[in-house]
Amino acid sequence: MQIIHTVAELRARLKSEPNIAFVPTMGNLHAGHMHLVKIAGQHASCVVVSIFVNPLQFGPSEDLANYPRTLDADCEKLQAAGTSIVFAPTVTEMYPDFNAATNCLGQTMMISAPPIAGELCGASRPGHFDGVATVVMKLFNIVMPQFAVFGKKDFQQLFIIRELVRQFNLPIQILAGETMREPSGLAMSSRNGYLSIAQKSAAAALNQTLKHIVQQAQQSDANFNTLEQTASQSLNNSGWQVDYISIRSAATLLPASAKDQQLVVLAAAKIGNTRLIDNIEFPASLNSLR
Ligand code: PAF
Repeated sequence: MQIIHTVAELRARLKSEPNIAFVPTMGNLHAGHMHLVKIAGQHASCVVVSIFVNPLQFGPSEDLANYPRTLDADCEKLQAAGTSIVFAPTVTEMYPDFNAATNCLGQTMMISAPPIAGELCGASRPGHFDGVATVVMKLFNIVMPQFAVFGKKDFQQLFIIRELVRQFNLPIQILAGETMREPSGLAMSSRNGYLSIAQKSAAAALNQTLKHIVQQAQQSDANFNTLEQTASQSLNNSGWQVDYISIRSAATLLPASAKDQQLVVLAAAKIGNTRLIDNIEFPASLNSLR
């Protein structure tokens, strides 16, 4: 496995690779990431994993400075998984016009994500998906993969990346990896590392709440607004701070309507200072009130 830090070196190395599958990450790899790497390996002979904590997708009050950076441990895991290349650029390599010391964009050009990026996670993280779309576009242009793999845990991110590929006519097939979970049902996330033991066991309630909503939503006469509000109240009453719980069309991410066949319930909520997200896709019942 090669570890490469510059765009020029990576381009030179990849020039002769006919078939590349790419997994973009911010590092601090867990079983969820390794599942994506495995999917990549099933699709191409050359697997490239990027490790880059992207400053453009963090808001001013978010955890950029403290985001876990564990390059050596990550590389060990990736080597064991048969990764061909790790791309770990510096901020200046990725954004020559960005001032890393002051977190100032300067003349950095960014992609403007579509309006749906302002809903759900985007409502409380303004500009987050502009930052994600920008870094992913840059990484795609640098790696030029045939396949790129993203996790379904970040459902809204996956949706926006698919739109990026569709709307900018990128010749890349996006593959989606299922969410990996702890035995309790808690979705694996780099942010789980911020949780105390007690918080980690309490955090399973997020997934349990979503499972309960799915059961209720599939019953006849289910009212989605009521389900969302009751679930939010119940989590808030047990010490969470719910950002949103929302039942949406899995195809468009717009609020669920009678014509949608496949739905997704998405949630973001804070336990202590840690913001967790999760979602479950499910088929629509004909009789629910949306
Ligand atoms: O999901 C992530 O880890 C990041 O948002 C991504 C896609 C690597 C872009 O920085």
